[in-house]
Amino acid sequence: MKELSLNILDIIENSLKAKAKNIELTIIEDDSKDLLLIEVKDDGVGMDETLLKEVFDPFMTTSKNKKVGLGLPLLKLEAESCDGGVFIESKKGLGMIVKVCFKKSHIDVPPLGDLPATIVSIIATHPEVNLKFKHVVNNKTFEISTEDLRKTCEESLCTPFLLSSIKTFLEEKIKELHGGV
Ligand SMILES: Nc1ncnc2c1ncn2[C@@H]1O[C@H](COP(=O)(O)OP(=O)(O)O)[C@@H](O)[C@H]1O
Ligand SMILES: [Mg+2]
Repeated sequence: MKELSLNILDIIENSLKAKAKNIELTIIEDDSKDLLLIEVKDDGVGMDETLLKEVFDPFMTTSKNKKVGLGLPLLKLEAESCDGGVFIESKKGLGMIVKVCFKKSHIDVPPLGDLPATIVSIIATHPEVNLKFKHVVNNKTFEISTEDLRKTCEESLCTPFLLSSIKTFLEEKIKELHGGV
């Protein structure tokens, strides 16, 4: 995909399909390790060992309306082409952790893309889910959770005004992480 935020949306859509109620997205950009890491942790239905072994097989999907599940296999190819990889841990009933890493300086690593739009679209379509987002760029960290936001807003997060304020806030914070540019 052209932007990693779309891959992130894809991984989180899997978590939502797996009925997760708590989802944690962590992005780590570390120049000293030349590493870009994206991690999504959920508390959905998870996978048993048999499914887990086949998770990168394009013909494995638990979807009822199609015969191929290309999300994770394509992501794996993409990460591997950037000297990285995809690593999955899961236990049935306990959720899943997907780790995607890239060699940060690799020329083919796609840009992160519009993370604020991705995050806001998840909040808007799944207001009942608790989403935590943590973004680390070298020695700077930004963290936010919909649970905290709900406490400060004392109302639904899904009004157009609040969603657009959250998007602007995320844009500013992510810009600050990258040195304000
Ligand atoms: N977070 C998750 N929790 C439980 N199962 C998952 C999760 N992510 C993926 N899976 C399983 O892996 C399969 C393949 O995922 P994916 O490659 O994204 O294809 P698709 O979502 O199109 O089926 C899914 O059908 C689902 O069974
Ligand atoms: Mg999918």
